[in-house]
Amino acid sequence: MAGPLRFGGDYNPEQWPRPVWEEDVRLMVEAGVNLVTLGVFSWAMLEPREGQYEFDWLRDVLDLLSRAGIGVDLATPTASPPPWVAARYPGTLPVDEAGLRYWPGSRQHFCVCSPDYRRLARNIVERLAKELGRHQAVEMWHIHNEYGCHVPYCYCDHHEHAFQSWLEVRYGSVGALNDAWGTAFWSQHYADFSEVAPPRRAPTVLNPSQVLDYLRFCNEAFLEEMLEEREILKRARPDLPATTNFMGPFKPLDYFAWARELDFVSTDNHLDPAGPEHPMESALHYDLVRSLNKSVPWMVMEQTSAHVNWRAHNVPKRPGSMRALSYQAVARGAGGVLFFQWRASRAGAEKFQSAMLGHAGSASPTWAEVAMLGRELEVLEVEDVPVESKAAICFSWPSWWALEGQGQPAHDLLLVDQLHWVYGPLFRSGVAVDFCQPGEELGHYGAVVVPSLYLLDEADGQNLVAYVESGGTAVISFWSGIVDAHDHVYGGPYGGPLRGLFGGDVVEVAPMKDDHRAQVAWADGSLTSTSFWVDRIIKTDGDVLARLDDGPYAGGPVVVASRRGGGSVLYVGSRLDEQGMERVYSHVPALWVPPDLRPPPGVERVVRRGDHVSYEFLMNHSDDEREVAVATGGRELLSGTPLASRLKLGPQEVAVVLRTT
Ligand code: GLA
Repeated sequence: MAGPLRFGGDYNPEQWPRPVWEEDVRLMVEAGVNLVTLGVFSWAMLEPREGQYEFDWLRDVLDLLSRAGIGVDLATPTASPPPWVAARYPGTLPVDEAGLRYWPGSRQHFCVCSPDYRRLARNIVERLAKELGRHQAVEMWHIHNEYGCHVPYCYCDHHEHAFQSWLEVRYGSVGALNDAWGTAFWSQHYADFSEVAPPRRAPTVLNPSQVLDYLRFCNEAFLEEMLEEREILKRARPDLPATTNFMGPFKPLDYFAWARELDFVSTDNHLDPAGPEHPMESALHYDLVRSLNKSVPWMVMEQTSAHVNWRAHNVPKRPGSMRALSYQAVARGAGGVLFFQWRASRAGAEKFQSAMLGHAGSASPTWAEVAMLGRELEVLEVEDVPVESKAAICFSWPSWWALEGQGQPAHDLLLVDQLHWVYGPLFRSGVAVDFCQPGEELGHYGAVVVPSLYLLDEADGQNLVAYVESGGTAVISFWSGIVDAHDHVYGGPYGGPLRGLFGGDVVEVAPMKDDHRAQVAWADGSLTSTSFWVDRIIKTDGDVLARLDDGPYAGGPVVVASRRGGGSVLYVGSRLDEQGMERVYSHVPALWVPPDLRPPPGVERVVRRGDHVSYEFLMNHSDDEREVAVATGGRELLSGTPLASRLKLGPQEVAVVLRTT
C-alpha cells in the first residue's frame, strides 16, 4: 500500500439516482477523496436472480470515479445475500444456540458452513472478479465485510457435521477427544464423534473445553471462507492487494491468524465518543491492529465522521475530535483513514448514522471538518517509518476465549478491562507499545507485559521464559499460565510454564467484593490501593515490593520482583490502582517516562522514527488549551509555523513535528 495516505469511505451508489453520482464525485474531489470502497452491499443489485448478472451500473460508477482519479477498493458482496438466496435455499440461514433460525430482512443472515451459501458466494465473487477486476479504477480487493460481526457462531446441522469432521482431524480418535475435553466430568464421555454437537443451549454450565474448541472451529470456518474468496480474487488479479475489514479487539476471530493471510490489514473503529477514555481505547485498537502482521501495512477502513446509530444514545464526536482521532491513526502507522460512509442513507437501518456527507449535504460543520482533513492529508508528507515502540503487550485470542468462559472464579474478569488496566498508564505517559503473541520472537522488546494470559501452552510459556532468561523484562499479572491448550488447570501452585517466573507460589486466588478496596503498602512506606482480585502468594524468593496493608489478607505480597537468568520479572498479583501500576512501571525503563517529560493530561504523544527522519505527533483530545514542551530543531507540518520550545495546542488541536538528522 505504498503511495499517498488514503482518504475516503464506503460508497453505496445503488442507493441513489445517477445524477447524484455526478455530484458525489465532484464533492469527493473537493474533499480530497482518493479511495472509495464499492460493492459491499450490492449482491442483490449485481445478481437480482440466481445466475442473472447486472454489472453495467457498477462499471459506470467505476468509470466515473476513474475519470476523477479516485481509486476503488472493490468489495465482494457476500456479507448480505439477496432475498432469493434464503427463499430458494432456507438451509443457508444461520441458527442460534437454542435452535431458532435467524431470518432475512437485515444482513449477515447466512451460515458459513452451508454448502449452498458457499457455492453462491463463490459464484458472485468469480463473476465480480471477471467483470470488473481489470477495471483501471480498482486498486485493491475488499473481501466480505466484518466477518462474524452479528452472527459469530451458528449452531445448525451444517455446523454440527463440520465440527465433528474438524474434531476427527484434530484428535484422531474419540479417546483423545475425551481426554482433551475432560469428559469424565458429569458423565460426558463420547463413544463416537457422531454424538458430538455444538455447545447448544444446555441446562447449566457447558463443558469449557468443548466450548473453546467450538470457538476455534467457528473462527476457522470463517477463515476458510475468506481464503476461498481470496483465491478467486487473486486468480483474477494477483497484483491487487487484498484485505478484509477487522474490528480491532473483536473477540470471536483470532485476527493474528487472519492477518497472516492478508496483503494489508484494515480495521473499523466505531468508538463511543461518550466514553471518557475513548482516545486511549482507540489508540489500543490501532496498536493491536498494527501488530497483527508486523510485515504488512494497515489502515482504517471505517470510522465515523461523528456518530453511529446503533448505541442507545449516539453522542457525536466533539468538533475537531474526528480530525484529532484521524491523526492518532496516522501517528500509530495507518496508511489511510476511511469512513463509513460517504453519503448518509435516506432509508434503511443506518439512515441516522453519520457520514462524510450528511443529510444536509455540504452545508454541515461535519462536512467542513471532513473536507479540511482530506485536503490536509493530501499534502501531508509523512514517510512510512515505524512507530517507536520499545515494549509489547502479550495477547492471545484462544486465551481470551477460555478466560471468559463459564465457571471461572470471577465472571467479570474481562480481557479488555485487563488490557485497559495495563495500557492506560502507558498511553497517558506517552509510551507506545506493540502487541505480541506469546510464541512470537520477543528479543527486541525492552519489556513484555502479560495481562491475565490465562491459557498458555508449554511451548509458548517456554518462549516467555526464554525471553526473560536471555535478558528481557516481563511484567506478569494475576491469572496467567493457569490452563493448558485444552483449558485444563496445570497442577501445583498456579502459573504452569510461567510459575518459575513469579518469585513465589500462587496457591489460591480471591476475587474481591465489588465495592472492596484494599490498601497496598510499598517498601518505602507509601500507600496505594487495589481492588477486584488478590492472589495468595506464599514462599516468595523474590523481592516483595508491595504487600496488602489491610483486609483479610493483610501482609500478603502483591508485587514481587525477581531476577531470572539475565532478565527480570515483576509479578503483580492484584488489580492495582493507576498509581500502583505506575510504581511497577517505574522499575522498567522501556515502560517508564518520568512525570516531567510526559505530555500534559489529555494530550497524546506518539513518535514515528526512521533512520534519518522522525515525526512527533501531538493530539490534544481535551477541551482546554494545553502547552506542550517540545525539543527544538523541528518543523511543524500542519501550521507551518516555526517551532518554539513550547507548543500551544487548542482543544482537539493537532501538531506534527518533523525532524531530520
Ligand atoms: C460497520 C459496517 C458498516 C456499517 C457500520 C455502521 O462498520 O461495516 O457496514 O454498518 O458498521 O456503524
